[in-house]
Amino acid sequence: QMVDCVVTTAGGVEEDFIKCLAPTYMGSFELSGRDLRDRGINRIGNLLVPNDNYCKFEDWLMPLLDEMVEEQKTKGMIWSPSRIIQRLGERINDTSSIYYWAAKHKIPVFCPALTDGSLGDMMYFHSFRHPGLVVDILSDLRRLNTMAVKATKSGMIIIGGGIIKHHICNANLMRNGADYSVFINTASEFDGSDSGARPDEAISWGKIKKEAAPVKVYAEASLVVPLIVGETFVKRHFNAKKNNKP
Ligand SMILES: NC(=O)c1ccc[n+]([C@@H]2O[C@H](COP(=O)([O-])OP(=O)(O)OC[C@H]3O[C@@H](n4cnc5c(N)ncnc54)[C@H](O)[C@@H]3O)[C@@H](O)[C@H]2O)c1
Repeated sequence: QMVDCVVTTAGGVEEDFIKCLAPTYMGSFELSGRDLRDRGINRIGNLLVPNDNYCKFEDWLMPLLDEMVEEQKTKGMIWSPSRIIQRLGERINDTSSIYYWAAKHKIPVFCPALTDGSLGDMMYFHSFRHPGLVVDILSDLRRLNTMAVKATKSGMIIIGGGIIKHHICNANLMRNGADYSVFINTASEFDGSDSGARPDEAISWGKIKKEAAPVKVYAEASLVVPLIVGETFVKRHFNAKKNNKP
């Protein structure tokens, strides 16, 4: 348990579950959008996801949303994005899912924009069929920010940009800055975007401590994250195992 919490997007949640229900295919960036549309295939970069995969996701998700509405009505359960992701992780029953493992180890996964993806589409359709589900984003914000405030030391590894980057940095603002910080993304700062902002900008806001030695790695994440994790978390795990041997 070397990770205290995860922050992700709706896309990052749903694609993890969808890949457990049906395969995603390797395609190419150059495939024609018009042809793919006619064939009912959606493109994510060079990956291809058939429409049917989202139908399978819907079949899996709808009964779980029904269950959540009922628990809210009968037991007063307050559903936040992290509680929803935990429930989905408990139910996926597939060890290739990140959220299966997060739920098993009780690692909260935050997703402040949980509705911005296919998950939101499903929740929209579901709200007509079985209305009433309320998703509380403020209780998750309290949970995440309080973790940052109470931590003796705080370290952030931010893979990609957009909402997740800001959400993690902003939680660390509550403690006057993270102690350790690694940004991994391809964005540049000339456009003033938060995605492209270098760690130095976060220091100016008190999101990273002045004394910290933050790093930004300009690279595609799937190439470098396995190398970074292999040289840090994995190495530490196996060294600890070796040292504990009688
Ligand atoms: N397939 C999808 O991408 C998908 C699917 C459904 C919903 N969405 C939604 O789209 C919204 C936009 O996503 P966002 O703002 O979180 O991120 P984004 O996809 O706009 O990425 C933000 C920045 O992160 C960096 N980045 C992204 N992937 C990277 C990688 N592999 N390696 C290095 N850098 C990388 C890039 O610099 C990029 O500009 C989210 O709300 C998400 O739920 C996306």
